[in-house]
Amino acid sequence: MKKTLLETTGFSNTYNCYVLVAYRHELNAKKPVKATVMGLDVIVVQNAKGEISVLDGYCPHMGAPLAGGKIVDDCIVCPFHSWTFNTDGQRVNEQGEPLKKQARTIQKYPVKVVGEYIFAWFDEHQATAKPFIEIPDLEYSDFHQAAMRPYAFANVSLACAVQIPYENTADATHFETVHHNLYAPRQKPGDYGYDPVDKIWFSNVYVEGYTFLEKIGIKFTFPHHVKMWGPNNACDDLPFTYSANEKLKRFLPKRWKELSFTIPVRVTILGVPTDSENSLFRMALCFKDHKQSQYPRLKFLLNKLMAKMIMPLARWEFENEGRTIFETKVNFPNVDHLPSYEREPMKMFLKYCSEFSRGKNKEHENILRKAS
Ligand code: FES
Ligand SMILES: [Fe+2]
Repeated sequence: MKKTLLETTGFSNTYNCYVLVAYRHELNAKKPVKATVMGLDVIVVQNAKGEISVLDGYCPHMGAPLAGGKIVDDCIVCPFHSWTFNTDGQRVNEQGEPLKKQARTIQKYPVKVVGEYIFAWFDEHQATAKPFIEIPDLEYSDFHQAAMRPYAFANVSLACAVQIPYENTADATHFETVHHNLYAPRQKPGDYGYDPVDKIWFSNVYVEGYTFLEKIGIKFTFPHHVKMWGPNNACDDLPFTYSANEKLKRFLPKRWKELSFTIPVRVTILGVPTDSENSLFRMALCFKDHKQSQYPRLKFLLNKLMAKMIMPLARWEFENEGRTIFETKVNFPNVDHLPSYEREPMKMFLKYCSEFSRGKNKEHENILRKAS
């Protein structure tokens, strides 16, 4: 029988890290947006000033779900008896003023907005002043400082712990076997793995690959540069470089023979732990921002079209691997049988993950002990 997550990894469903709750474009001026994180239902709302709040999803009066309510004049109106709250979670009167006496509030969680992405931090004890890891600047982190924007989105729900798919970032050898159309050149020891940067970032190295298109003469290579923060967030930069192989060159006119171009592509896969055994993986396909272009509208439409065409493939690869492997695999209690160049990055990853788990991190443990 498959062991539970706690038995195999010691990874509980509470950890100290930002989690994606919504994309900006999903916000609705008239209705709260719902998200479920670690069994907790929350709502995401935005007021007229553009400030975004993440609040508990249930009304403190009699527990009605606020996601079914409305937003009126910057306030959330409960669908049950119309108690009304401002976006700070305070109950307000008809004039929108906070009620002082017998006022009940809705809990508000710390929020971070990075470009399109809205994150919240759920440390149930609020025991530390800040999460153990900050969110990188997702818009500009790589690609020569060109702003990257997501143009296509997909959600995949899997019955697995949130950190399981991210082990892949340390495992380049699975490319040939799982993703049959890709080829990862044999890595030398030290060629890939995790480089802890500032003790919080993990930047793993490269998988170069060729798609099946090589058979007809088109060669794509794409080094991966995966940046992770927390056990549940990965930003994968894979600039596709096109060139013709020798076979195709024979048929091409002279000026096209040496043609080569690179399309910077980024896939973010941000894991939302729905509970300790189930997760929602939110994928976004990003290209360079269109705003700097000479024809921004045209560039926007082209980017959108291209992203919509590639996303089903990216989604299929992820979901297929998810259903056949992530949902059914068990975690090895130790990784000592692996070759050293795989063992070290994998050990680092497992250790890194465990630090986010309540009760696993010394600093967090001490704070909890003092607090209780
Ligand atoms: S349950 Fe929300 S107002 Fe009564
Ligand atoms: Fe994979």
